[in-house]
Amino acid sequence: MDARILAKPQATDTFNEKLDIALEDSFSKDGEDSSAHIFIQRCLYHINRLKLFWYDELQNYSNENSRFLFDVRSKIEERWSAWEENQVSSKKLNSSEVAQVLCERADEDLDPEPSEEGKYIRDEISENGYRRLLAIASLDGLVEASQLSRVLGGAASDVQLMLTKIFWEEYGGGKLGRKHSSHFATMLEELGLDSRPEAYLDIVPWEVLANINHSFLLSEQKRKFLRYVGGLMFIEISVPASFRNNKLAGERLGLNGEATSYWDIHIKEDIRHGQWMLNDVALPLLEKYPEDAWEMVMGYDQQKFLSARAAAAIVASIRKSEDDPVLVQEKMESLI
Ligand SMILES: [Fe+2]
Ligand SMILES: [Fe+2]
Repeated sequence: MDARILAKPQATDTFNEKLDIALEDSFSKDGEDSSAHIFIQRCLYHINRLKLFWYDELQNYSNENSRFLFDVRSKIEERWSAWEENQVSSKKLNSSEVAQVLCERADEDLDPEPSEEGKYIRDEISENGYRRLLAIASLDGLVEASQLSRVLGGAASDVQLMLTKIFWEEYGGGKLGRKHSSHFATMLEELGLDSRPEAYLDIVPWEVLANINHSFLLSEQKRKFLRYVGGLMFIEISVPASFRNNKLAGERLGLNGEATSYWDIHIKEDIRHGQWMLNDVALPLLEKYPEDAWEMVMGYDQQKFLSARAAAAIVASIRKSEDDPVLVQEKMESLI
C-alpha cells in the first residue's frame, strides 16, 4: 500500500478529506454525529485488528507495518483519546487515596443496583433481542482477552504472573472447549447464529467499537499500562453482575444452558478474577508506582464510562430491532 501511495500520493486525497471531516464532526462540535463516529471507529478497528492473528490468508497482513495506516491511526487516536478523557473527570490522587478508592470502587461495582439497561435485558427483551445482543457482543466475545495477551511479555514479576494466570483461565487452561470464546461460539450456534469472528461487524454500534479500540489503545502503549490494568480491573469486577442479567434473560426466554454458558462461566470465574486484579495486580503496582498509581483509578473510571455507554448503545439497538424485527432479521440473515 505504501509503495502505491508513494507512486501516486493523490490516491489518498478523498479518504484524507473524509477523515478530516469526520474527525471534525465527531470531536469538535457536540459529538452527536453518529455517522462520523462510526466511520472513525471502523477505520480504527480495521487498523487495530491487524495486531491480532485471525488464522486467515497471510497476505491479509501485508500492510500491517504500513506508514500510511500508522499515520491514520495516530491522527485518529490523538483527537479521539483527548475527547474521551474530557468525558470522565480524573484527578491525581496520592497513593493512600488510590488504595482506598480502588477498594471502594471494587465493593460498589461487584454487586450494584441493576442499571436501566440491565433491567431491560433481564425483564423485557424477546428472543430476537437476545439474538441481537449476542450478535453485537460476539465481536469482542469471540476473541475475548486478546488484548490481555499484548501486555504479558516483558520482565518477570508477581504481577506479570497473576495477569498470565487470569489469561490462562480466559483461554480455558489450554483446552479449546473451555476457552471463554468457545462458550461464546456455542451460545451463538445454539441460537442459530454465525459463530465466525466479525460476522456481525456491520451491525456493531460505534460505542461498542470505541470500547474495543480503547482496549487496543491502552494495551499497545506500555506508558498506559496502569490505565490498562485499571480498566481490566473494572471489567473483571463488574462482569458478574452485568452478565447475571443476560443469563436471567436467557432463562426467562426458556433457552437451555448452552445458550447462556458464556455468562455462566463469567459469573463464576470473574468474581475470583476481580479479587486477583485488586489484591495481586493493582495494589502491588501501587507500591511499585506510588506517583503514577492514580492512573489505575483513571483507567478504571474511564472503562466504567465506556462500558456503560456501549451497553446503552446495545440496548438502543435491541429496542430498535424489537420495533421492527422483520427488517433486522433480514439484515442479520443477509450477513450470514
Ligand atoms: Fe472471559
Ligand atoms: Fe475474567
